[in-house]
Amino acid sequence: MRKKKLMAIIGARPQFIKHAPLEIAAQKEFDFVTVHTGQHYDYRMSQIFFDELKMSRPAYNLNAGSGGHGAQTGKMMADLEPIMENEKPDGVLVYGDTNSTLAGALVASKLHIPVYHVEAGLRSYNREMPEEINRVLTDHVSSVLFVPTQQAIWNLEKEGITKNVYQIGDVMYDMIDICRKNNILQKDEEVFGKFYYATIHRPYNTDNDERLLRILEAFEQLPYPVDFAVHPRTLKRISTLSDTTKFNNIHFLEPVSYFDSIRKIHNSRAVITDSGGLQKEAYMLEKKCVTLRSETEWVETLQNNWNSLVFDKIEDILTEVESPVGDYIPALYGDGTAANEIIEILANLKTPVL
Ligand code: UD1
Repeated sequence: MRKKKLMAIIGARPQFIKHAPLEIAAQKEFDFVTVHTGQHYDYRMSQIFFDELKMSRPAYNLNAGSGGHGAQTGKMMADLEPIMENEKPDGVLVYGDTNSTLAGALVASKLHIPVYHVEAGLRSYNREMPEEINRVLTDHVSSVLFVPTQQAIWNLEKEGITKNVYQIGDVMYDMIDICRKNNILQKDEEVFGKFYYATIHRPYNTDNDERLLRILEAFEQLPYPVDFAVHPRTLKRISTLSDTTKFNNIHFLEPVSYFDSIRKIHNSRAVITDSGGLQKEAYMLEKKCVTLRSETEWVETLQNNWNSLVFDKIEDILTEVESPVGDYIPALYGDGTAANEIIEILANLKTPVL
């Protein structure tokens, strides 16, 4: 019997990480075709993950690159359509909430190919975030929705989505489990607990000069040094804004690989970020996190002060990052078997669900 064909659409850094455990799990059951939209293209934003995680080379690369949201998403869609028409996959996997997710979901659904959304049901309820639009639209055209948390089920229920929703945990926790098993989480005695690990890339933090400067000034005043892994978007802004050498307490680093990022979280004193994924990874690795946003879709991390939101008063970073945490609630994000469960569910689908 012919194996069913599953197509995965990836394009941005967090998607490479989410895709890695699924690629392993899918091999047994499916004929697997991967399309890289090219949304992220620098070596340190893309290829480094394929090399480190030993992922296979995508069958297609669309080179969609940067641009306005419309232009970027539109180019991906125009290029994806003939590929899906030729390949005729039985279903299309999309991950998370980026423009690549939306492009893949829209094209597949219009071609009547079932969309399987991994990390469905997340909501920040902030429609100014492009990611929120991407999440809502993707969920509404998805045939099967894989959600990490109970909260995501409730979010979907509010929008009338109750069928073919499966809570399977979080594929990013699968990756943490893989790191544990492969000895990636080694303690660096010299620096353990003596630095903060930071990443900042959301437009509302990077694209306003005064705000970005206030963030850097807060980092400068922290009691321990800050390892700041700088996204290309942020680097462009910082280089026009200020002389980085005047910040003695900040180590400006190039974007780091996945394992390096996990090691940094593990060895850090606390994490400061506006990323979705890093908030969760900090929680999974039992580190305090300060999130430079007014809300988060990962609301579970806020319990017992493990994650604090800082938005209007940037200087609150200084107190929040050192504020004590309460009891740790384990297994909020599953048990490391999410990818296998996804593949098992998809392999056992009786009829194509549209
Ligand atoms: C995207 C996602 C965001 C995710 C983030 C992870 C959307 C709407 N946003 O944001 O949810 O958290 O990825 O990193 O899809 N750039 C480079 N080289 C690269 C990639 C980007 O120089 O390899 C620069 C470009 O100038 C680009 C800018 O960074 O315009 C932003 O990139 P883009 O992919 O549009 O969005 P991100 O901010 O990375």
